Amino acid sequence: MSTQPAYQRILLKLSGEALLGDQQFGISPEVTAFLAHEIKAVVDIGVQVALVVGGGNIYRGERLARAGMDRVTGDQMGMLATVINALALQDAIERVGGMQARVQSAIRINEVCEDFIRRKADRHLEKGRVVVFAAGTGNPFFTTDSAAALRAIEIEADLMLKATTVDGIYTADPKKDPDAKRYDELTYDEALHKRLGVMDQTAMVLCRDHGMKLRVYDMDRPGALLKIITGDMTIGTRVNR
Ligand code: GTP
Repeated sequence: MSTQPAYQRILLKLSGEALLGDQQFGISPEVTAFLAHEIKAVVDIGVQVALVVGGGNIYRGERLARAGMDRVTGDQMGMLATVINALALQDAIERVGGMQARVQSAIRINEVCEDFIRRKADRHLEKGRVVVFAAGTGNPFFTTDSAAALRAIEIEADLMLKATTVDGIYTADPKKDPDAKRYDELTYDEALHKRLGVMDQTAMVLCRDHGMKLRVYDMDRPGALLKIITGDMTIGTRVNR
């Protein structure tokens, strides 16, 4: 297998739920350590890595929303949850050894981490540091998938990856429908028209309009990230314009 990267700069979107591991709540140290090692494998071959992480392992707004909580307040709580996850990832990445990480937040929280400043993120990435973008877009009504799409476009990533618990995009939910088929490749318009629940529509339209390539893959498979980055086209589902 080639160890030459096929992509120079990537943005990896992790869901908050992915950090749960076997737990019902919070952050699994085994999962963050596993992710840090997967990331190190690609940093070691010179790939610049940015991360966006969700917050669903710490805060899910639906129940409070149903009970009448103000949507903007709920979304701000979700943003703070992503900051907690970003700090855990920063710590896990630096503890692996041989890697540095910087958290940049879309909302100002300077005692805890840097602000999102694109040019500074650029410099960190050029220096081989992993940059974790926290607090989504900093705005309510946007998902962390949309934040990932936005940041991927802003930093001119060559590829955006969405790490999930299934190995790509299927015609139906493979956990519920045994006849569901996996797509090797799709266009954003197909995914939008078929309403395949891969990302929210805002995120997909952003990626489509800016020609951002997306790979949806199973993050639980050890070595999958390195394989994708070194040119394996068979893993997961590729989404293109
Ligand atoms: P270079 O400028 O390339 O040397 O990058 P650097 O990130 O090492 O330098 P800088 O002096 O900007 O930051 C030093 C440390 O302080 C790093 O760990 C940063 O993450 C951290 N840091 C920088 N700005 C802030 C901030 O606004 N808030 C917090 N909490 N930490 C910050």
